[in-house]
Amino acid sequence: MSIIEKAAGRIEMNDQTVPTHKIPVHGTAPQSSQTMLDLTRFRQLGGITPNEEKTQIAEAFRMIKRPLITNAFNQGAGFIKNGNLIMVTSALAGEGKSFCAINLAMSIAMEMDHTVLLVDADVARPSIPKYLGLKAQRGLLDILLDDKLELSDVMLRTNVEKLSVLTAGSKSRNATELLASQNMSKLLEDIAQRYRDRIVIFDSPPLLLTTESHVLATQMGQIVMVVEAETTPRNTVMEALRQIESCDVINFIFNKSRYDSSAGYYGNYYS
Ligand SMILES: Nc1ncnc2c1ncn2[C@@H]1O[C@H](COP(=O)(O)OP(=O)(O)O)[C@@H](O)[C@H]1O
Ligand SMILES: [Mg+2]
Repeated sequence: MSIIEKAAGRIEMNDQTVPTHKIPVHGTAPQSSQTMLDLTRFRQLGGITPNEEKTQIAEAFRMIKRPLITNAFNQGAGFIKNGNLIMVTSALAGEGKSFCAINLAMSIAMEMDHTVLLVDADVARPSIPKYLGLKAQRGLLDILLDDKLELSDVMLRTNVEKLSVLTAGSKSRNATELLASQNMSKLLEDIAQRYRDRIVIFDSPPLLLTTESHVLATQMGQIVMVVEAETTPRNTVMEALRQIESCDVINFIFNKSRYDSSAGYYGNYYS
């Protein structure tokens, strides 16, 4: 007996067409695979969100992202190994790493051609959930702890179409050691290769207060160094730069500048 599905809602069975009916599953409806970011909240905090008027901060990040995207996909003379892996860091806490990392990810995701993965790698003090209204859930640390867990198992697709988020994950006492572990190196290599067409933005711990950022920097194609304008002393910035000298492409954001009410201005430094 042949059973051929012919068209939606009908089955043909030995020359007889039998109508079919959809029966809803009993119990709770299946969860949507999309995670809702609280964009209203992020906008209230001064961040960039899709479909809004041109704001100064959106304009600033439009300029900030341009060279990063060009570098990420340059296959010519200016090719950068792991160029699509971009770490946002700073010398100290509170300079604006998380704020800038999320804005950068949002800004790039709003481009037609680019998909972005935002990773909360500040595993000791994760703050992406707070900015975007996310609940605690599995993420980076869980992948590092469980060999069977894949990135795709815990990566969150969001209501911003081209933006996925990897949270820091379940709390662990060994969080900082895990971030500097062999497993993390393997994961980064895997992400760089498997998601070559995607920009991966890492929010990270402060360079001078931890050691993990320094280890992470060795595998990043590009680094964005956030400096709190008119606040962070020059020698502090210089000391932080020495921690990341393994990376050839370092870009600066002078954040919270009083002379410019947008994100600040932008500098570029190739070592
Ligand atoms: N350009 C900016 N404009 C307004 N507020 C900012 C800006 N950058 C950072 N902030 C605020 O400064 C505080 C610290 O920023 P955050 O990104 O969390 O720092 P970090 O991640 O470096 O510790 C937060 O309250 C954040 O909202
Ligand atoms: Mg932070």
